[in-house]
Amino acid sequence: MSTATMTAPATATATKAKPRVFSGIQPSGALHLGNYLGAIKRWVAEQDQNDNSFCIVDLHAITVPQDAAALHEATRELAAVFFASGLDPDRVSVFVQSHVSAHAELAWILNCFTPMGWLERMTQFKDKAAREGTERASTGLFAYPALMAADILLYDTDLVPVGDDQKQHIELTRDVAERMNTRYGKDLFVLPRPHISTTGARIMSLAEPTRKMSKSEPEGSLELLAPTDVNRRKIMRAVTDSGREIRFDESRPGLFNLLEMYQLLSGQAREEIEQEFAGKGYGDLKKALAERVIETLRPIQERYNELRANPDHLEALIRRGADRIAPRAQATLKRVQTAVGLG
Ligand code: AMP
Ligand code: TRP
Repeated sequence: MSTATMTAPATATATKAKPRVFSGIQPSGALHLGNYLGAIKRWVAEQDQNDNSFCIVDLHAITVPQDAAALHEATRELAAVFFASGLDPDRVSVFVQSHVSAHAELAWILNCFTPMGWLERMTQFKDKAAREGTERASTGLFAYPALMAADILLYDTDLVPVGDDQKQHIELTRDVAERMNTRYGKDLFVLPRPHISTTGARIMSLAEPTRKMSKSEPEGSLELLAPTDVNRRKIMRAVTDSGREIRFDESRPGLFNLLEMYQLLSGQAREEIEQEFAGKGYGDLKKALAERVIETLRPIQERYNELRANPDHLEALIRRGADRIAPRAQATLKRVQTAVGLG
């Protein structure tokens, strides 16, 4: 059958030219080199291979208290970082979750098919609710995974690139989808798979190298938009050990992390790097790494500043992402509404 003569079937199993990849990222906290090396850089490299959508999940952000102006600002900041890092608005849909109303609409339906027991078992909810106390934690925080399931299922997503911590949410997405497929027919939802990267998946904190570099721990984090001297200082002060020899040795987590960043940024093989630093000290490695980090971030920061200097253009780019993707979301929503008997 020629694809040219085929009309797209109104089911989830419609033939797709490329795997559909969807990921969401919260507009909260400053993006860091871990986000770049573990996620964004790969998204950029794979933008032709897959049919990619990256969603700035502002509806998820409001599951915990937010300052309104800061949230609005963080949403634009994140969009600008994505484009500045090389995501091409012509090939990838970068959009804001609240600009496509189908997310909230499908989330409501999924809420009605998600047992409370499943949500109660989510470790992210348990952790966050423990911090806030269940009296104060919002219902939105509890239902967070159903909204995430809606994000993913709306686009008949095949692959969801996420960190380890989100695997449980993808499993819940599959469980809800299977439950509804069993009841309404297997073509209702595509079952997505998590895509957890192995190399470069874990950049560690410079201050505490046994913990992941994270938005919530700025001391150990190399922020993508930080001034050059701030990042240089953090690298020069990075926690290492009292050893001397520069080797990829996992039992020396601080050194290993510096070397791993150097490897990812330089594209060199491990042996080559060990040779380069043979007989040299940690200070030399740190200086060389700082240069690599600064070189990588300089063009990103330049493009970022250009994008932020023209807010109308940035706004047009994210609206374009939403306009491109909204018809797909609408088609899935309609399919589900019809199956369930709404409308
Ligand atoms: P988060 O900052 O937790 O919202 O994560 C956003 C994306 O960046 C996810 O795809 C994570 O897997 C990735 N990521 C976050 N922190 C790191 C890290 N320290 N090393 C590698 N990837 C990370
Ligand atoms: N919960 C994810 C996180 O905190 C963000 C997210 C929301 C997401 N919707 C998504 C990730 C859909 C992947 C797919 O990192």
